[in-house]
Amino acid sequence: MLYKLTNEQLMIQSMVREFSRKVIAVTAAERDQTKEFPAENIKKMGELGLMGMMIPPEYGGQGADTVSYVLALSEIAYSCASTAVVMSVQNSIVCESINRFGNEYQKEKFLKPLAEGAVIGAFALTEPEAGSDPVRQSSTAVKDGDFYILNGEKRFITSGKNAEIVIVTAKTDESKMHKGISAFLVTKGTPGFAVGNVEDKMGLRASDTTDLIFENCRIPAKNLLGEEGDGFKIAMTGLDGGRIGIAAQSIGVAQAAFDAAVKYAKKRKQFGQSISKFQGLRWMIADMATEIEAARQLMFLAASMKDRKEKYSTQASMAKLYASEMVNRLTAKALQIHGGYGFIKDYPVERYYRDARVFTIYEGTSEIQRVVISNSILKDKRLP
Ligand code: CAA
Repeated sequence: MLYKLTNEQLMIQSMVREFSRKVIAVTAAERDQTKEFPAENIKKMGELGLMGMMIPPEYGGQGADTVSYVLALSEIAYSCASTAVVMSVQNSIVCESINRFGNEYQKEKFLKPLAEGAVIGAFALTEPEAGSDPVRQSSTAVKDGDFYILNGEKRFITSGKNAEIVIVTAKTDESKMHKGISAFLVTKGTPGFAVGNVEDKMGLRASDTTDLIFENCRIPAKNLLGEEGDGFKIAMTGLDGGRIGIAAQSIGVAQAAFDAAVKYAKKRKQFGQSISKFQGLRWMIADMATEIEAARQLMFLAASMKDRKEKYSTQASMAKLYASEMVNRLTAKALQIHGGYGFIKDYPVERYYRDARVFTIYEGTSEIQRVVISNSILKDKRLP
């Protein structure tokens, strides 16, 4: 299905493109070196309504559709993938989870400031021994009167250091497997909650990825998100939306690498002519353009199905799988087109190459996406 964008979606895309290229792009290379969190830019993005785009206005959001959101996210990723991952986690797996499963108190207290971009949020599911298989996580939450006592360690948490509000999953009933996992809204400063190791990463260096440690951390029972036992469902539902966001991030970085490669190929002369005249490079450029377009259509398909409230888990996984694998192939080719200049930091393509590497890993590895896709096919009773 070819997706036709509405005037409003085109307007959002063009507004965010201008902002991203004027404001976000300027410091992206420097932040990649210094690892400085883009706090000021995130604040500006909050003011523009980019941190809770799909949340209704009464809870501080813009009430935008998912297609508008992925267009905006791709534009931010075009300039800075580190900034884009903060936007992605906040909009989908954090804000949308609270909007979908939270009660009125939780939406007023936690969702509003998040959607307005006044504070940053994180989602803590992964543990040192539970990544692809979050059902076997070992964090626990034990009810104690009006509180839950939370113990455990979370790993690879995007925005872990900078987040004021974290959705944390933990077991409330060991015997019930995925139905015994619950989700809690935990605020920074709660006694017993500490930020642990901050990772030194290959890419996305300006976004913080941390351990979070919970030691006898007392969480008010009113901060339980959804019902006891809803935690796994909350995570899986949130990840469905999150995976469309990772496709959007991949497409943004791929487009940036592609534009840089085309620009370089036109300018660079060897053997007495522009290297863009050589068929070997022309075919690479044609394949790259085709692959970006294919990924974009998969992303639009998943996003528009979500907007139409259809089941879209499989299409979200397809978009994430294809786009994240595509951007890894594409940034490698873009770097190759740059030759030796692709390998040095004077050109942004080496950053795109490093930033893209994690896209096939986080929010579900490519292997997990294939599990989701093949399960949906093999379990479909309508198929032979
Ligand atoms: N939506 C709603 N419910 C879902 C669901 C979905 N997309 N997928 C599964 N479920 C439900 C099932 O219906 C089932 O519930 P019932 O028993 O009530 O029917 C239950 O969940 C268990 O389903 P499965 O048997 O399919 O579960 P599983 O244990 O085999 O795991 C999995 C499925 C797809 C492998 C899943 O574990 C998974 O997605 N793993 C990857 C985790 C992941 O993506 N981690 C990324 C970390 S977050 C991150 O990276 C964020 C960041 O900071 C950037």
